[in-house]
Parts: sequence; structure tokens; C-alpha cells
Amino acid sequence: MIQDAQGLAVTTDVPQAVEAINEFIDQALTYDRRAEATILRAIEADGDCAIAHAYAAAYYLSQENWAGRVRAKSSIRRAVAGAERVSRREQLYIRGINAWGQGQIEQAIDYHVALVQDFPQDLLAVQQAQYHYFYQGDSQGLLEVALVALMAQPNHPLLCSMAAFGLEQCHQFSQAEALGQRATELRRHNPWAHHAVAHVLEAQGRHQEAVDWMTAYADTWGDCNSMLYTHNWWHVALAHLALGETTTVLRLYDSHVWGRAQKHTPKDQVGAIALLMRLELAGVEVGSRWRSLARPLQLRLAEHALPFQDLHYVYALARAGNIDAAYTMIETMVSHGHSLVGPAQNRWLKLAVPAARGLMAHAQADWESAIAHLTPVLPHLYRLGGSHTQQALFRQLYRHAIEQPERFTVQQALA
Ligand SMILES: [Fe+2]
Repeated sequence: MIQDAQGLAVTTDVPQAVEAINEFIDQALTYDRRAEATILRAIEADGDCAIAHAYAAAYYLSQENWAGRVRAKSSIRRAVAGAERVSRREQLYIRGINAWGQGQIEQAIDYHVALVQDFPQDLLAVQQAQYHYFYQGDSQGLLEVALVALMAQPNHPLLCSMAAFGLEQCHQFSQAEALGQRATELRRHNPWAHHAVAHVLEAQGRHQEAVDWMTAYADTWGDCNSMLYTHNWWHVALAHLALGETTTVLRLYDSHVWGRAQKHTPKDQVGAIALLMRLELAGVEVGSRWRSLARPLQLRLAEHALPFQDLHYVYALARAGNIDAAYTMIETMVSHGHSLVGPAQNRWLKLAVPAARGLMAHAQADWESAIAHLTPVLPHLYRLGGSHTQQALFRQLYRHAIEQPERFTVQQALA
């Protein structure tokens, strides 16, 4: 056993494996693009280190695509095979990742939360629990797990950033802002803290402050993975959009959002799609951007990693004119929903599928159908996850359909 930099025992006799694990933990918490290479280095140093395999599996699962799931399977197998001879903390983490790999998200959350209760210095367990809470639409859980850990380490900059985001998602804006700022003072290279404060400024309509805050730290995002790099710039673009600076938004889309995206990565795709949706809702002509964005979406058609993301894909495919592909995607969403059981099945069949039909209708300017499909599900869409900012887009689309002038003309003519 060797202790990692968090003071937690790692079952290995190879110091180089723990050195790489320490580096990986820091990189995972700062969303560094080198995280995958680092955890593979740990495995190279000690191929029997079970927790290193579990970290690798978590990395691959977080890619939210088919290729990632396939790669995660063998990592999970190796982690589980070694789980008998590791510490209780490592066992809990491995079980959490194994549950995730099997789609048992509630179970995964239980393992990670139990782990954080007993080992609050395990920040990857906090991050992991927050990740699942985020896509379960459980803001309170997302906050509470970070607060448990924060009591043990109130001055840890990366933990402060996670707690700040949780506070923001629970609408505790002044505390979220203060904690995000403190996290940044403690460590300037802290992109998740920058992001948490951007959410506060966006929620409070302080758009120029959001631009100033984010651009003051953008120089530290160079080594971010494409997800957070493009997402932090997405927030900058959103602030410019709210200020009516649409030319700047298009420039940022081309240079820092889709321009810097990994074109086959789900999170990057979702961000770019959401930005084009918002631009069009603001009356901006986006040219051929839908078509170039939609090309790599073919890989997503039958993947169904997260319902929140599928809603974006369906809309993008429809706006790009790939109507058949959009219909195919909705059909396979239905089949996927039937393959699940319990709450997961309900989330897909009762929420995601009708919402996808509504979004598809909106994308084709069929306002009545969009309204009919979205009306019953709109109040419940938070259960599909995403931040409040991301969810607000669905409400904006709905309002846009409701407010169509030709719709009122028809209604008035019928009255
Ligand atoms: Fe965000």
C-alpha cells in the first residue's frame, strides 16, 4: 500500500503508479486533456493496480459514446478482478464504476456517496457523484455530496469549485459566487471554478461581468480537454448573445466552440448544437453550420448514452435537413427505452421521446405539433439532466413556438 497525495491508501507497491495516479486526479479535476495518457501511465507502471483500471474506466465512460463504453468494459473487468484484495475505499469506488458500466446509476451514486461519507478527501468520488446527480437532474444531491467533503477540506481549491457549482445549481448564488472566486484565488488555474461563477453571472443577468470574468482567466484553459475548453467559451458566447453581440457569438462558435471541438465528442456536439439553436432563436442566420455539425452525428443515431443529449441530436439532424436520420433516431430511442426497466424506462419513453418529437416538430416549424408534444413534458424535463442554463433552452424553444405570429393569425381566424 502507498498513500496518494490525498492521504488515501492505494493498493500497489509501485511508486510510479501512485505518482501517475496523483497527476491523473489533479488532471481529472481540472479537466486536463492529458488525463487519459496519465492514467494509462499508471497502468503501465502497475498493471495489477485495480483502482487505476477503475479510473481509466471512469474516464472512458465519461466520454459518453459507444467507443468509450467498449474501452471501459475491459478496464472494469480488470478493476473488478482485483477488487478482492484492495482497501474498502478502493472497493467502493470500483463498485461505483462497475454499477455505472451496467447502467445502474442510482447504485453508482450510492457507492460514491458512501465513499465520500467515510473518505471525504477522495475528490474523484465527489466529482463522480456530482456527474451522476447532474444527469439525474438532482441539484440538491449534487450540492450535498460536495458539502460533505468541503467540511473536511474547506480550503481545497478544486473542491471549492465543485461546491460552488452545486450551490449555483441550488440557486444559492451569492455563496456560489464567493466560493468560486475563493477557489480561483486559491488556484488561478481552476477552470471549473471559473465555470461555476459564469453560471451565477448568467443566472443573474450580469452578462458583461460574465464576459470580463471568463476572459480574465481564459489563458489558463489551454490544456483543458475539449469538453471544458469549448464549454467555458460557450458560456462566454452566451453572455455576448445576451448582450446582442451576435457577430462575436458567431466568431466564437467558429473559433472556440465548434472550431476547437473534437467533432465526434458528444459533449462538444451538444454545446455547439445548443449555441446554434440559441442563435437562431435570436434571429441570427447561421448559414451552413448545421450541415457541418450534423455530419459526425451519424455515429450517435443508435447510441443513446443520455436522453438529454439525444434531444439535441434530433434537433440538429432535423435542422440540417437529415429528416430521415432524425426519425430513425427517435425510433431507436423508443426501442432503447423498451430495453430498459423502471425509472430509466420512464425517463426515455415518457419524457425523452415526446420531447424529441416536439423538438423535431419545432425544427421543421410545425409549431402546433411542437407545442402539443412539449406541453405535457416541459415541466419534467429537468429530470433528463443538464444545468439550469442548458434546460432553459427547451423552455425558450417552447415559448418561441407559442409566440409565432402566424399561429395567432390562424387561431384568430378560427375564433
Ligand atoms: Fe455550464
